[in-house]
Amino acid sequence: MQTFALIREKLSPNIAAQRIFSLIKTEMFLVEAEFQRQASSNIQVINYLGDYLQASGGKRVRPALVLLSNCAVGGDASKDDVIRLATVMEMLHTATLVHDDIIDNADTRRNRVSVNARFGNQSAVLMGDWLYMSAFETSLQERSLEILDILTRLTRKMTEGELIQLTTLGRTDISETEYFDILQRKTAFLFSACCEIGAILGNASKDEQNALRDYGMNLGTAFQLADDLLDFTAEEEVLGKASGADLLAGKLTLPLILLMRKEPKAQKDLEKIIYDGNYQTISRATLLEKLESLDLLAETRQRAYSYANLAIKNLELFPKTEYRLALEEIPSYMIERNK
Ligand code: IPE
Ligand code: IPE
Ligand code: MG
Ligand code: MG
Repeated sequence: MQTFALIREKLSPNIAAQRIFSLIKTEMFLVEAEFQRQASSNIQVINYLGDYLQASGGKRVRPALVLLSNCAVGGDASKDDVIRLATVMEMLHTATLVHDDIIDNADTRRNRVSVNARFGNQSAVLMGDWLYMSAFETSLQERSLEILDILTRLTRKMTEGELIQLTTLGRTDISETEYFDILQRKTAFLFSACCEIGAILGNASKDEQNALRDYGMNLGTAFQLADDLLDFTAEEEVLGKASGADLLAGKLTLPLILLMRKEPKAQKDLEKIIYDGNYQTISRATLLEKLESLDLLAETRQRAYSYANLAIKNLELFPKTEYRLALEEIPSYMIERNK
């Protein structure tokens, strides 16, 4: 068993992803078709933008979590309501990306020109709003106040996360507590809601529902830590979006928070980069070397793994099915992913 676990750990993230997604292949096809349906409209401009977004792909992690959570509690994930809600979660995610790219002034998303860069901020704001509302409209078909409650609270939390983040931009003294608070609001609550909704639709017990909710929260935290690491380490062509961008925008993520604690004199350098809005005086490579020499990327990865382990622990009460195994594999795939 131990050896098996070791072999699994060493598998490349892409192979792990393939295996995880192969369990829900048919359902993911249904999600794609449903996405196309939910993002279509008889208004031509919306149709056009909807197609543009759907065709851009993405990892589709959130709907996969709805489906796998549903299966883990013994549900039938090919049922209409599960497919519909899995798609709603991807629609909500897409809406946040469209808005996030306006806020971050990002030109690229999923290796394509972002909606804001291609069609302008005005269209992007409205398209984001439309996606939110279309997702909510679809979710109402469930006639479930429990689900509606989760979705509205979640959307509020995500907006709060982005707003709080704006108030911290440029601050080199941001605390770890503030950082994790923002991260959980803007990313982890959505993961948590995906898993919780998957469980609810599978008629899970309250304990199972709570376990999957907590699993999603821990997983989402690990996921955003990995996203913040990728901003330091990944190539833009692989990542499909700008890298090295967080600090330029004044966002201090965990590796830099740790740096400030270990070496307060680095503050001047970070402030200089933020002030210049480029890496001309202090290069990205220099910054990366600094972080590596102090083991701060490894420390951040270690933190992500602590959350991953908590997530795996949250699954203990479930029967050992291939779905539970897939959910157990997702955290390390997310931490090791290269985009
Ligand atoms: C990007 O999410 C936004 C974050 C929460 C970091 P993903 O990395 O899941 O983006 P796509 O959907 O695969 O493009
Ligand atoms: C993700 O934060 C938050 C969202 C809710 C989209 P980021 O700003 O780090 O996401 P990316 O890196 O642009 O995908
Ligand atoms: Mg962004
Ligand atoms: Mg990011």
